[in-house]
Amino acid sequence: MGQHTLLDGAKDRTVTGETVADAKPKTIKNTKKLFIKTYGCQMNVYDTERMREVLAPVGYEPIDGPEGADMVVLNTCHIREKAAEKVYSELGRIRKLKEKKAKMGDGKMIVAVAGCVAQAEGEEIMRRAPIVDLVLGPQTYHKLPEMIAKISRSRGERLETSFDTQEKFDALPVARKPDGYTAFLTIQEGCDKFCTFCVVPYTRGAEFSRPVDQIVAEARSLVSQGVKEITLIGQNVNAYLGKAPKVEGDGEWGLGQLIRHLATMGGLERLRFTTSHPRDMDDELIAVIAEEPKLMPYLHLPLQAGSDRILRAMNRGHTFAHYRDVIARIRKARPEIALSSDFIVGFPGESELDFQCTLDAVREIGYGAAYSFKYSVRPGTSGAALPGQIDEDVKSERLARLQALLQEQQKAFNQSLIGRTLDILVEGTSRGQDGLFGRAPYLQGTHFKGDESLVGTIVKVKIEDAGLNSLSGTLVDG
Ligand code: SAH
Ligand code: SF4
Ligand code: F3S
Repeated sequence: MGQHTLLDGAKDRTVTGETVADAKPKTIKNTKKLFIKTYGCQMNVYDTERMREVLAPVGYEPIDGPEGADMVVLNTCHIREKAAEKVYSELGRIRKLKEKKAKMGDGKMIVAVAGCVAQAEGEEIMRRAPIVDLVLGPQTYHKLPEMIAKISRSRGERLETSFDTQEKFDALPVARKPDGYTAFLTIQEGCDKFCTFCVVPYTRGAEFSRPVDQIVAEARSLVSQGVKEITLIGQNVNAYLGKAPKVEGDGEWGLGQLIRHLATMGGLERLRFTTSHPRDMDDELIAVIAEEPKLMPYLHLPLQAGSDRILRAMNRGHTFAHYRDVIARIRKARPEIALSSDFIVGFPGESELDFQCTLDAVREIGYGAAYSFKYSVRPGTSGAALPGQIDEDVKSERLARLQALLQEQQKAFNQSLIGRTLDILVEGTSRGQDGLFGRAPYLQGTHFKGDESLVGTIVKVKIEDAGLNSLSGTLVDG
């Protein structure tokens, strides 16, 4: 999944979540209202859930807007300039609400900035936005209750951006309360690859893989509460190399082995993983893609650019020929697989000819979905200092051409599903349509008529219509 759907998805999650239905009776003293707004990628969606869990025992219950909240957390993204800017404009709105709350004698609103902007620009946030009480980097969420206690006593540090990924995962509770029938599960965090455009190695730190036992315990907790589909997430998820289960001795497992193991879990029907890097697609993982029916036939494998010159300048560590070869092996292993990718246009030095290579690559590979972005100069990355920065107009024009091609492919792919019967995981009822809504194996939202009792199950739907982002059809018996 790429960034723009994630931003929307993340927004949705902040307004659903464990809200009214899960709320304890309001008579309990010291119940405080918590609002977390999530930006960015799946990592942040996952972390938001974990922050809610860590704050529940100290009396915080989620609400679906910032108005009247006792604590507001912005879980931020630093990937592109626009993403980072959003934080400051949101803080402007929050300031008014905080002042209003204080004026009404309704107590203090604690404002925290978490996530990747916090990690990258902690000091600047505190300087530019004095209403911010707490700044927390992504590896420090387990310390939230302690930090709140400190600032409530009006002393202690307001900025916590230390990097200890292991400590974070060890300290967070493993028993999770899921939010629906699908869940993200972080298995790997951080990145050592240092692509020259990217802030992630700086905001999330070095690669860290969680031990298998910890992941299995978390998956089991999710499944026991009704989750049917788990997406294993990591910045470089296929670089996963985690401590093997205790019973297996001292070794380490790769992603392929982890998936094989998780797939044996009763009640868990579907597995996905994202985001992979073309350099880390090993034979074991490709064999698992071929052999494991619970693994959905959809793979997000970002190419970024089609020109070898640009791939080198981006420090991606592979050529287009390597990517082509990986894709051929994956398609041979699982012919029905659909692919998606991320692309960046207008990287420094990208000529019209380089850009044509990206268009050619898209035509050659053929994608079921894709996410594309204009290169955004990020402070601290080596790309920022490169000569040959591209004009904004040129970037916009290239992005439009690329997106036209990608949309054409996405539409054609969705339309190719018309007439086929797909397994749909029913996620809920679709508003105003007297029907149900679910996810296809290829991730498209799918609408069809059916009884509410089917929510949370996997049903067969014959696809009859397809748009750019969604499918619709008719429920098939059995
Ligand atoms: N780990 C993943 C990507 C994580 S960031 C990978 O290696 O593919 C998600 C996407 O944001 C990237 O794939 C890239 O397409 C985009 N992106 C990252 N930095 C960017 C920048 N500076 N400007 C524009 N897009 C960027
Ligand atoms: Fe960023 Fe590259 Fe790491 Fe992906 S692999 S997170 S693009 S540095
Ligand atoms: Fe954004 Fe941080 Fe994710 S920069 S894309 S929230 S890892």
